[in-house]
Amino acid sequence: MVTVRRITLDDPLYPQECALREAVLLGPIGLNVPKFKAMFPGVEERFEHFVAVFAHPSGPRVVGCATLLPDYPEPGIGKLMQMAVDLQRQGEGIGTRLVVAVEQRAFGELGLRELFCHARDTAYGFYGSLGWTFDSDVFEEAGVPHRRMVFRPGPVESEDDAPPVPQD
Ligand SMILES: CC(C)(COP(=O)(O)OP(=O)(O)OC[C@H]1O[C@@H](n2cnc3c(N)ncnc32)[C@H](O)[C@@H]1OP(=O)(O)O)[C@@H](O)C(=O)NCCC(=O)NCCS
Repeated sequence: MVTVRRITLDDPLYPQECALREAVLLGPIGLNVPKFKAMFPGVEERFEHFVAVFAHPSGPRVVGCATLLPDYPEPGIGKLMQMAVDLQRQGEGIGTRLVVAVEQRAFGELGLRELFCHARDTAYGFYGSLGWTFDSDVFEEAGVPHRRMVFRPGPVESEDDAPPVPQD
């Protein structure tokens, strides 16, 4: 069974989160977590960290992760970053569950009005399937083509907006 949860940097699962980010995202572009932290001072600590955890008989295994940088670049907006799913577990819906958890946190407790990410070209379809839309042309980041993609929650229908129920 896979569960999604939010962890802090002192959680025993954090080293597994870092290993996954390095294996899937950072390693292929010549980075690791210490280099990432040096490039973006203070960001690792400001991130909210989400992990997807598989209850393996030998102990919990982090099979997916995502981070949320709230109130960036301005209050009310958040950036989804470091989205990765274990190569062996991609296509099972784990990425979707992580994005849903980030959205729930962002638009629920944190009260943000917009999320955005810099999506790699290979992930456009993934974010698109979750209702995220393009918000920029293609630009290069870490040698990879990206586009800014955004998600804004629609208005929540209240009961007052529901069509009247016929009386007879
Ligand atoms: C992109 C990634 C996070 C998606 O996670 P995942 O667990 O594999 O995705 P899901 O199984 O939840 O897929 C959800 C939907 O997106 C689609 N999808 C997933 N990856 C896709 C891709 N690369 N291109 C097009 N569609 C994709 C799936 O087909 C699925 O659609 P469906 O519900 O209609 O079948 C994962 O593949 C990954 O870690 N990739 C490498 C790292 C990366 O690119 N991270 C994003 C950086 S911006």
